[in-house]
Amino acid sequence: MSLPIAVLISGSGSNLQALINKMEDEILDVDIKMVLSNRADAYGLKRAQAYGIPTAVLSHKDFSSREDFDTEMVRILKEAEVEAVVMAGFMRIITPVFLNAFPGKIINIHPALLPCFTGVDGQGEAAEYGVQIAGCTVHFVDEKMDHGAVIIQAAVPAYPGEDPDDLRARILEQEHRILPQATQWLAQKRLTMNGRFVELEESDIEPAALDNKSLVNPPLEGRF
Ligand code: GAR
Repeated sequence: MSLPIAVLISGSGSNLQALINKMEDEILDVDIKMVLSNRADAYGLKRAQAYGIPTAVLSHKDFSSREDFDTEMVRILKEAEVEAVVMAGFMRIITPVFLNAFPGKIINIHPALLPCFTGVDGQGEAAEYGVQIAGCTVHFVDEKMDHGAVIIQAAVPAYPGEDPDDLRARILEQEHRILPQATQWLAQKRLTMNGRFVELEESDIEPAALDNKSLVNPPLEGRF
């Protein structure tokens, strides 16, 4: 049975699209019950609507506290019978009100190799810092920003003085692989959190083809 999930977004929703594409390809066993955005102009809402996926807009500006905002998000998602939550470019910090509603079932994609470059522009900060290797991380969400236990990371090269948008694109390409893969592992119930460590239950699925552009660990499987 497919895992009923919500995808939270704030913008373009290209990661949402990557999830939808893998669902269409029948290699991701989730059912997106709701796409929720805190911004009415998020393009990702249109992407969801194009596939008949229910959407909700909840502006944080309409709430006097983070907790009140989260309480309403929980109400909407529970009504939609959501069991797990994928944060795909959702630019809000969540509170224990939300965390406790979906314990161990909330994951987030961040465009940097955590714990480096947390916050809003991980890729730009990495480019400016002059790193030689950058990347992205999918992690379980906890009460601190970009902090929870790491599920999977992809590393890509960064080049001195390159246009930060080129680095952004290189990272985003990998985001579109590791987020669906981590979501599938969650759906398969193969992830166990042990303090800061996430253990992936083994399977007999073939490793994915290497793309020669990235180092991904744990390795991608099948057609991810
Ligand atoms: C992605 O790069 C995601 O990693 C980032 O926002 C972008 C959303 O793009 N998230 C964060 O920075 C969270 N701290 P998308 O809307 O096209 O998926």
